[in-house]
Amino acid sequence: MDNKQLKIGLIGCGRISHRFMQGLAVVDGAELTAAWSRRAESVAEFIGKYGGKACSSLDELLQSDVDAVYIATLPDSHAHYSIAALRAGKHVLCEKPATVNLAQLDDVLALSKANYLLFMEGMKPPFYPLYQKLKAHLKTDPIGAAGYVRAGSAVADLSHDHPNFSYQLAGGAIMQIAPYEAFLALDWLGPMTNLQAMGRFSGKEVDMFSIFQTLHDNGYAQLYCGFDLHGKGDALISGPSGYITIHQNWWNPAKATINYLDGRIVELDEPYTAGGLNYELSHFCELIRNGQTESPIITHDLSRGMMGMLDEARKQMGLRFEGEV
Ligand SMILES: NC(=O)c1ccc[n+]([C@@H]2O[C@H](COP(=O)([O-])OP(=O)(O)OC[C@H]3O[C@@H](n4cnc5c(N)ncnc54)[C@H](OP(=O)(O)O)[C@@H]3O)[C@@H](O)[C@H]2O)c1
Repeated sequence: MDNKQLKIGLIGCGRISHRFMQGLAVVDGAELTAAWSRRAESVAEFIGKYGGKACSSLDELLQSDVDAVYIATLPDSHAHYSIAALRAGKHVLCEKPATVNLAQLDDVLALSKANYLLFMEGMKPPFYPLYQKLKAHLKTDPIGAAGYVRAGSAVADLSHDHPNFSYQLAGGAIMQIAPYEAFLALDWLGPMTNLQAMGRFSGKEVDMFSIFQTLHDNGYAQLYCGFDLHGKGDALISGPSGYITIHQNWWNPAKATINYLDGRIVELDEPYTAGGLNYELSHFCELIRNGQTESPIITHDLSRGMMGMLDEARKQMGLRFEGEV
């Protein structure tokens, strides 16, 4: 595809979709042309604010001339809408977690391959300027091979009716927060070979606070996620010649400190702009233009690795969603 303006359709007009629009506003060569969500009022309000066509059904959106869709519903419906969009010939950028489980993800990825269409999970941290600057810095001033990652996020200020607490919508801390932690561990330590998880449900049907430690090809990770404690939200990455702190909130990385064994301290400071989803979106649009069906950064294998970690953690904690055995 040449440099023509990419037409983006949106499925789901909630909180993150507004942030997506903040990002889209600064991405060249892409525009919102249509949106659909469950409630007509949501769509009308959204389109009233950002422009484009308010679709009254999913079919109407998928039959329109959008090149790609951004799926920003809740995890229970990600696979369903990804499959519908890929069948309709649309490229897909889908919010994390990509699906409810690995079996669903494999169906989505198989369709992406069979139809030569791009599928990418919206995993934002690696596209932030700070994260990229950190990786570039370590190439010339390394800390050695990373062998340990400690990271987590716990937010205790969500209202009780937040979808993150819903069993039917495949909520819970593991599903909603741990995709980021899984990404960080896999990105620095390679594929996971073992996982030990513990968590509690606190009267809800989904996990409210979970911890897990993982063994990877290149080391260990200790990770946490939760909704009933106030966590710091930084990340530690250790190598033989130094350690890195990505300061809170590490999943929207803007500052990092590298402490070297020889006493040197390097501070990296790279604020992000436009809400931060603009970076992954630029990458997604570039892939479409280049005719690529898989991101070299958020690869299909990486999405499978993240999902595999969530599946295993849930299995050990006895958290199964509807239809899972
Ligand atoms: N990348 C990030 O930084 C980030 C941050 C937060 C969340 N997320 C992810 O983004 C996703 C959405 O989170 P959110 O906080 O934006 O949720 P939200 O505010 O509840 O928004 C979800 C939207 O999807 C619509 N929707 C829900 N289920 C649907 C269904 N089955 N069919 C059609 N429309 C449906 C809702 O519908 P109506 O309004 O039409 O009823 C709502 O507009 C989650 O997967 C979450 O993990 C990502």
